[in-house]
Amino acid sequence: MNLSMAVEISYLFSSVLFVIGLKRLQSPATARGGNQLAALAMLIAIVATLLNNQIVDWTTILIGMTVGTILGGTAARMVQMTEMPELVGIFNGFGGAASALVAAAELLRLESLGITSPLGEGVSIVLSCLIGTVTFSGSFVAFGKLKGIVSGNPITFPLQKTLNAGLFIGLLVLGGGIMGLFQIGALNTITTFYIFTAVALALGILLVIPIGGADMPVVISLLNSYSGLAASAAGFVIGSNVLIISGALVGASGLILTLIMCKAMNRSLGNVAFGAFGGESTGTAQGDDSDKIARSVDPEGAAMILAYAQSVVIVPGYGLAVAQAQHELRKVVDNLEERGIDVKYAVHPVAGRMPGHMNVLLAEADVSYDKLFDLDEINDDFDRTDVVLVVGANDVVNPEAHNPQSVIAGMPILDVDKAKSVIVMKRSLSTGFAGIDNPLFYMSHTSMLFGDAKEAMNDLVREVREA
Ligand code: TAP
Repeated sequence: MNLSMAVEISYLFSSVLFVIGLKRLQSPATARGGNQLAALAMLIAIVATLLNNQIVDWTTILIGMTVGTILGGTAARMVQMTEMPELVGIFNGFGGAASALVAAAELLRLESLGITSPLGEGVSIVLSCLIGTVTFSGSFVAFGKLKGIVSGNPITFPLQKTLNAGLFIGLLVLGGGIMGLFQIGALNTITTFYIFTAVALALGILLVIPIGGADMPVVISLLNSYSGLAASAAGFVIGSNVLIISGALVGASGLILTLIMCKAMNRSLGNVAFGAFGGESTGTAQGDDSDKIARSVDPEGAAMILAYAQSVVIVPGYGLAVAQAQHELRKVVDNLEERGIDVKYAVHPVAGRMPGHMNVLLAEADVSYDKLFDLDEINDDFDRTDVVLVVGANDVVNPEAHNPQSVIAGMPILDVDKAKSVIVMKRSLSTGFAGIDNPLFYMSHTSMLFGDAKEAMNDLVREVREA
């Protein structure tokens, strides 16, 4: 077997491992192994690529790998779980930039050699550069919005969509120009290419600024899909099968994830991209609250309600993640279970701010997976449940979703209001992500346990022990 055949077999092996790794991400129980498998596949692909290349500059590669490992490793270790969308956003941006740079380097190389290339390669170069550049600038705006560096409110101005459409048409014309000039070996391809890149950078920024900060996780998932498409196009540019396959896998899985998130929020992709919904939450409930009375309960009272129940369902939400109260929650649940109470967790698909957010959080506290129930699995159980403890969740339990006039109309929710008693732990009556009031807080069988989830949960642990 010669070297190039061994390399192609390694690429095929890596691709199979990528697919198995992705498949294993389906369940929290196998996700860690799936991630490790995909990392191994990436290592095999990198080693095969380096061995295959006869003109490797090892010094540059070692410098690049060292800097990349230090930056990537440090960022992954330091980042808080709630900041994960920001980190993924940056990684997507760099992924897009890398694909665009590969395409640009190939164009410059061919130009310097005076080689004209087949149309297919020209198309791949233009696509890789276009999608990669839009992903790069768009991802950094998304990162800025999530971090609060750029305003989280939708930034809109007159004729914005017309301008974006004009820029897109301009990019098609310039892209066609690059391919044409490429064909005839014209020297000013490079100038056209630089203009093309600048316009693509502007388009990436303009596409993301009108989207509200709170919708950024969905946008980041979509940009993740774009970064995969850019990588796939770069794979065609340099004739790398493993890059084509892995890029396509990222592109497809990113799109599927985006659509799952949209479905769980009952919104179309178009509505997220152009709807200007979900700007920065003002933190105040909307509407006239004068006739609404929320009943509050102290930790001692909440502990009594919980301790004398037979069945309890916990509904975790974004606030649990912010407060990092998962370990304290686990202690409360342990105490309840020691009393013989049946405790389950109800996990909404978009609770928190990223896919699987609650699963990861509860896994950190070693909550066993068989106690976690999806919306479909548990929704029919609420009318047989004694107490629901809602911890830092709001929209995912908002009965307003059943009101056709509401902005969250049709969003699938956990029907916790059907339980005999509901305790909601949060700091105030403020709104959540969707920015709308929650009638659950004012229902006669609901008690509000006000406070930061970590502090309130600590108090609850103590009181449940003493109850
Ligand atoms: P939200 O509706 O956003 O409500 C979270 C609540 O947590 C807030 O009302 C807040 O109330 C409370 N909170 C914040 N910090 C807290 C703390 N330290 N201690 C206690 N409570 C705290 O969250 P949810 O119910 O999890 O729903 C998620 C929302 O995000 C949905 O609308 C979903 O569509 C959207 N979204 C999700 C995703 C994914 S993939 N998960 C992506 C994009 C958008 P106080 O300020 O009163 O404490």
